[in-house]
Parts: sequence; structure tokens; C-alpha cells
Amino acid sequence: MTVEHDASVRNLAARLPRSFTLGVASAAFQIEGALSADGRGASGWDAFAEKPGAIMDGHSPAMACDHYNRSPEDVALMRELGVDSYRFSISWPRIQPDGRGPYNEQGLDFYDRLIDQLLEAGISPMATLYHWDTPLPLEHSGGWMNRATAERFAEYSAAAGRRFGDRVDQWVTLNEPASVVLNGYALGVHAPGQGLLFDAFPAVHHQLLAHGLAVQALRAEGVRGGVGVTNLHSPVQPATGKITDRAVAKVFDLMLNRIYADPILVGRYPSSLRLAKPWLRSFGRISDADLKTIHQPLDFYGVNYYQPVRVAAGRGAYESIAVPAEAMVRIPAHQVPFHEYGTTGFGWPVAPEHLGTMLRELKDRYGENLPPLYITESGASFPEPDHVTGPIQDHQRIDYISGHLHHAMEATAPGGIAHDVDLRGYYVWTLMDNFEWAAGYSQRFGLVHVDFETLERTPKESFYWYQALSHARKSRLG
Ligand code: BGC
Repeated sequence: MTVEHDASVRNLAARLPRSFTLGVASAAFQIEGALSADGRGASGWDAFAEKPGAIMDGHSPAMACDHYNRSPEDVALMRELGVDSYRFSISWPRIQPDGRGPYNEQGLDFYDRLIDQLLEAGISPMATLYHWDTPLPLEHSGGWMNRATAERFAEYSAAAGRRFGDRVDQWVTLNEPASVVLNGYALGVHAPGQGLLFDAFPAVHHQLLAHGLAVQALRAEGVRGGVGVTNLHSPVQPATGKITDRAVAKVFDLMLNRIYADPILVGRYPSSLRLAKPWLRSFGRISDADLKTIHQPLDFYGVNYYQPVRVAAGRGAYESIAVPAEAMVRIPAHQVPFHEYGTTGFGWPVAPEHLGTMLRELKDRYGENLPPLYITESGASFPEPDHVTGPIQDHQRIDYISGHLHHAMEATAPGGIAHDVDLRGYYVWTLMDNFEWAAGYSQRFGLVHVDFETLERTPKESFYWYQALSHARKSRLG
């Protein structure tokens, strides 16, 4: 821990509100491994990862971080880190192997143990019910293109609520339905690998319905924790003032942000969706009853913020490891790089001030309908070695996290651009390097380095920085 960290850490700690939550986040499929242990069923991601060329360098998720067998060690790391809360996801196929019918006692036991270990360590559990691992039999019957998946999800959510509802402090129904639709169903670069483009719309509606039904199911089970959802939010800018670029920016904003947030928070799809009507053949008649189900009162709203997006009309290549140019080339619009910012390992712009813009945008759009917010993911990958002998000096990650927290505090402080937003916490993505979906192990986002040959965990400098922040805040609170 350098002296320089010390001063900036104390400064930042002093700006965090008293009850602000500092956390770390993860997802089952990215860390657990043990894909066929303990009666877990296969997921759409298991199958997708086996397709030649689907995952960079042919990396396999089979072992990932082996968290399934090492959760006590990982919880001990979090205790050392000093975080208030851990956001993890429950693997649907681990607790209900076929996505319907019987539950798997051993899978349920795993999460029982994890939750108990967290509580014992004084860490508040935030459980996400769906972070992209759809049970394979459901994927085979259409996945999110099939309305019945929403009903199956509600049953599974009820079972999770029954089992863990006495101990989980916060429930997140879905993680980023936008990424599932865009990457998985529209562009085909994630599971289930479909290239439906605008015809993927049913996967939007059925996930939203699944969210609403799951909120009802959790509440019917009497869970004691708060219930919310996590959406990806990226403020969208047109590349120029041209009318065509502005129109395309509106469509991107709809597809990335509003088509998910509007129905959940205000109970209707955005009226400007008609702009995209020529492409949205699959946007059929939506019943009022469905919209009512989707629009449930929420205890909080989770936002994953990584980057702003700049777009222009017309086809064009955009270099990004996350979404290959070949996939985007089929769309009559393209992303344009932000030359004014540095970039992460994924090539994403590091633009913390846009976090404030995003918060302002949410409050302007949803006003009193916007529940208290948590940033449920924020973080960055940078090129880092596969093997290390001690803490690596990941100053770029420290700058990324401190920059985002700083801007979040500035924006929500009295007089800040989002002073009227009730921001309650920030979860770093992610605790440890893990299986980064189609990018395999090539993108390291962790506060803790993982050697994927030995599975050894080595905290990075950013771990000690976040620990110092957490300690500085606790000592300030007394
Ligand atoms: C997802 C994570 C992913 C991260 C970085 C988020 O959209 O929720 O699972 O690892 O982005 O790509």
C-alpha cells in the first residue's frame, strides 16, 4: 500500500454515505467449474462452449476457478478484503437440472453452505437467480424465445426463495437481459448462438415476464430480503449531429436500455419503439396483463455500468473483442470508438463521468418510479500475466474503480448532476479473474489474480486498495 493510495483512499472514504454498500460481484458459470459434479444439469452455455470457435482459443469453462470446491477459501478472501456484500449467482441447472421438475439436493446444499459461510464472515449475500446459464433442456425447447421458460423460471425462483429466503439479504431476478438478447439471440456470439437480429424480440419480452413472475414468486414465499433486477445501462451518443446518426442512437438506446427499463419501471414499452417497427416484425401485440406482471414494485434497481456507447448510421467495422466485427456487420449501424479516452483490455472506453450521465438519464426518465439504485457491476480487464509470483501492480484497475466511485459520489452529492438519485452501493466486477464468456480466460477483471493452471489465488494491488478503502470507511464510521 503506497502513501499516495493512502491519501486518495481516505479522501474517497470520506465521501461515501454512511450506509453505502461496498461489494464484489461474480456469476456461477464464470467461477464454479464442477459442471457435471453433484447432479448439476447442463446449461446452454455448456453446449455453446463446446462448439468449435465459440470461445477464444478454445478455452473450456469446465474448471473455471473451481469455486465450487474452494468457496471457503474465496469467502475468506472476501472477509480479508473487508467488503460489506457479495453478489453471486445461483446456477439454475445446479439446483434444478432439467429446468423443470425435481430439485437437486446437493446443489441446494452448495448454496446453503456458501450463504452460511458469507453470513459467518459478516458479508451480506445478494443472490442473482439468472446470470445466463439456462438449463439445456429448456434451451432445446426454445429458451427465452419460448414463453414457457418464464413460467419455469418463476417455479425455480419460488424454490430458491423457499430454501434461501431466510438468509439472503437481496435478490436479483435477472442479470442483464439485454446482453442475453443481443449477444445470445440476436448476434449469436454468446449462448445459445442464434443470429435472429431483430427477430429476437420475444426473448426480450419473455425475460421481462420471467422477472415479473419471479418477483411475485419470491414475495409469495415470504423472502425476508429485498427484491430487484439488474440491467445493463450504457448512455448512447450519436457520432455526429446528422439526423441519421441521431436516429440510430435512439434505436441503440431503445435496444440497450429502454426496452428493458421502461416496462419494468413504468409498465409499458417505450412509445418510440415504433421508430424500429420496420425491423421489429416479432414485436407482436403485448397484453396489458403481461405489462402489469412485468411492472412489479421493486425494493431496488441494479445497474451494471461499464461504458458509454457512440454510434453512427451505416455498416462499419468496430474492433472489440467482446463483440466481433463480423457479428456487427449485419446491422445497418456501427459503434464508433471514443478516441478521447483510454481503453480497457476489451477495448472499452474508460469514461467514468458517463456514470453520472447515466444516473441523470435514469432519474429524468423514471422520476419517482426509480427505486433506490445499486451499481451491481463495474470493473475492467487489462492485459495481465497468466502466472505471477506476488501482487501485480494493476494501477489501471485502481484508477478505473476509484474514478467510477469518485464520479458516482460527485454526481449524487448535493449540487451534483444526479443529486436526486438514491445510490446505495457499488459492486466491483469482479472478485477474481474468471471465465469471461466468449473471451475465455483472456480477459482478467479480478481484484484477485487466478492462475488457471494451478488455480492459485493471488490478490492484486487493487485488492489491497479496495481493502484500504473499506477499512478507511469503517474507521471513519467508528
Ligand atoms: C456481465 C459479466 C461479464 C462482464 C464483463 C457483464 O456484462 O454481467 O458476466 O463478465 O460484463 O464482460
